[in-house]
Order: sequence, then structure tokens, then C-alpha cells
Amino acid sequence: MDVMEAIRQRRSIRAYKPDAVPEEVLLEVLEAARLAPSAGNRQPWLFVVVRSPEVKERLHAAYGAEWFFQAPVIICACGSPECAWTRSDGRCYCDVDIAIAMDHLILAAWEKGLGTCWVGAFDPAKVTEALDLPGDFAPIVMTPLGYPAEVPGAKPRKALADITKFM
Ligand SMILES: Cc1cc2nc3c(=O)[nH]c(=O)nc-3n(C[C@H](O)[C@H](O)[C@H](O)COP(=O)(O)O)c2cc1C
Repeated sequence: MDVMEAIRQRRSIRAYKPDAVPEEVLLEVLEAARLAPSAGNRQPWLFVVVRSPEVKERLHAAYGAEWFFQAPVIICACGSPECAWTRSDGRCYCDVDIAIAMDHLILAAWEKGLGTCWVGAFDPAKVTEALDLPGDFAPIVMTPLGYPAEVPGAKPRKALADITKFM
């Protein structure tokens, strides 16, 4: 599968088989995140990989959707604003860096037959507590990681003409 094929075919998956993700596949998916670009190459990220039922139980207080916990693995991508690059106008690129790394991870996962779903609608204070995050690391986005138990259709996208401006 080439990159464009993975981009076209990827879907948010909200139903998972209980099958375990082999360790080498998990490490390969994390490697895709590790290799992502970041502003000033600061790499202001921490990927918390949750497989423990106890930690999953604690995360349940932060995000209630049952399908999220069907997957054998949950990855929480965290960012440190202190470590991230900040532009002269004060804009911190932490969240941008985390999003790029997460997209790398998600596309690599899809190429390996694994489903994911970006999840941002969680209680950040409860995730920070559940994962015992160090320093100023904050949870930016989470995803389940596992083999899909559904085949969702494509969601609509805006037309290219509506989202581009050629000058
Ligand atoms: C930053 C971000 C946050 C999201 N948060 C959630 C979420 O909290 N819960 C959820 O079910 N889906 C969430 N999604 C998934 C979107 O709903 C989904 O990507 C969008 O509907 C397009 O569908 P597709 O991913 O299948 O193409 C999020 C996506 C992004 C990019």
C-alpha cells in the first residue's frame, strides 16, 4: 500500500476485534511517529501506550465511549509546550507537532491493517491523572489501536476548489 492509498482508504474505526497487536507491529507503528517532523526538530512528544486493564479502567473516567476500550491498545499522544518551539508572535507549535506525529502513526497503522480513531473529546485533567504524566506534558489526542471490526464508508470532504486559493 502506498501513502496515497493509505490516505484515501483510512477511516476512523469505532469497533474493534479483541485480537492482540503483535509487539513488532506496535513498535513499527510507534517508529512512524518517532520519525515525524517537528518545529525546530524539538520532538516535544511522549506516546503513552496503554495495554493494562487497570490503566484502561482509569481512562474510562476520562472518556466514556465503550468502543474505545474494545481495542487491545490505546495510545495517548502527549505534548510538552516547554519543549516545543514557539514562534516570535507567541504561537506554540506543540499541538501541531503532536498532530503530525499522530497522523504518521495512524497512516502506518492503517497500512498494517490496524484501525485507529482520533479522540480529542476527553477530560484532559483525568487523562493526566490516569497516566501520571510527567512535567508539563499534556494529553493532546488519544487513539485506540486494533484490528477493525467494521468497514465504515468514506465521510464527505469539501471540494478542492472550496479549500484552495491559487494566486
Ligand atoms: C483532532 C481530532 C479529534 C477528534 N476527536 C474525536 C472524538 O473525540 N471522538 C470521535 O468519535 N471521533 C473524533 N474524531 C474523528 C472525526 O470525527 C473523524 O476523523 C471525521 O468525522 C472524519 O471521518 P474519517 O476519520 O473516517 O475520515 C476526531 C478527529 C480529529 C482529527
